[in-house]
Amino acid sequence: MKKNAVVTLSAALVLAAARPLVAGDTRSENWQTHCSVCHGDDGKGQTEEGKKKKARNLTNAKWQDTIDDVRIVRSITKGHDEMPAFGKKLTEPEIKALAAEVRSLVNKPS
Ligand code: HEC
Repeated sequence: MKKNAVVTLSAALVLAAARPLVAGDTRSENWQTHCSVCHGDDGKGQTEEGKKKKARNLTNAKWQDTIDDVRIVRSITKGHDEMPAFGKKLTEPEIKALAAEVRSLVNKPS
């Protein structure tokens, strides 16, 4: 009985972690938990907290062009100016997934 509960729980955790990104503006669970408060679901940083801390507009194509993936991963892991570090809260694969998510936010010039 007890073992079953553990198995069910870990299966639920795996499912939660693997939940795919839904198309559209829906952000991943980690984004909503850790990033939305400042960056917003759209990545533009127009939230109350984001404005207070001066979160940049992550969708800005020009800015995205000037930085590489290594820097995005490093900023999420170690923090950057007013942004807190997530290296102890998130695993490396989770941080890499969030970095890819940052890339997916870019406002492609039409
Ligand atoms: C407490 C508010 C806050 C939270 C929470 C937060 N950020 Fe930030 N973030 C900022 C601020 C402020 C900046 C602007 C710092 C700068 O431009 O130098 C920033 C900058 C960034 C940058 C650009 C860094 C660079 O090197 O220029 C990325 C990428 C980023 N955040 C991603 C994330 C991700 C992913 C999360 C969730 C894991 C997150 N942020 C959570 C406030 C936050």
